[in-house]
Amino acid sequence: MPTPSALRGHFLTFEGMDGCGKTTQLRLLAQYLREHGRNVVETVEPGGTEIGRQIRRILLDPANTAIQPRTELLLYFASRAQNVDEVIRPALEAGSVVLCDRFTDSTLVYQGCGRGLEAGIVLDLDRIACRGLRPATTVLIDMDLETSLGRAKRRNERYGQSESRIDDESAAFHDSVRKGYLALAATEPERFVVIDGRAPLGDVARQIREALRNRV
Ligand code: TMP
Repeated sequence: MPTPSALRGHFLTFEGMDGCGKTTQLRLLAQYLREHGRNVVETVEPGGTEIGRQIRRILLDPANTAIQPRTELLLYFASRAQNVDEVIRPALEAGSVVLCDRFTDSTLVYQGCGRGLEAGIVLDLDRIACRGLRPATTVLIDMDLETSLGRAKRRNERYGQSESRIDDESAAFHDSVRKGYLALAATEPERFVVIDGRAPLGDVARQIREALRNRV
């Protein structure tokens, strides 16, 4: 298996709170990079593979209130291990830009800061599931709680509640998620690009392209 440094492509992740607009921004960036001749592979966590999509349904189904925090943690990493082996590594070996909607930073902030699981446990599982693969760049779309949760709520009302198990957590949970993200970005400023997500969609997209100009 090639070491991460032997991978020719660029591994870029998008992170942020529910409703921050990262999925839309990921698609816009993918389109832009393709127009500029890059091979782009889009994927998502949890999900990204057929097995991952089945795991995603279990994780986000609001009926699954009995899920224990460690069960949840292991399922997120089960989806990720499959995605890394089946989609992400092969694409990076082939020289593609891989855009992944969420990755281990989500687990660090949602299961670590949100659920109170130890960061050390999350990182141990990351070593098993991802085998040393880390994002080269992470775009964090930051936004205040009120705006992001308002948007997530409207989206759920529009498209049904089938994926709302984590969105339905308390404001205190989401507040610790946001703080966790900002703390992560502060500890790794060379990897993180932090973008204010409250601007109009086109402005946010432009800011992201500008920030990535010399990276991707
Ligand atoms: P999404 O709606 O952005 O696709 O994310 C699905 C939900 O799963 C979202 O509420 C964040 C949550 N999540 C975690 O709690 N831990 C993780 O490791 C990941 C990837 C997502």
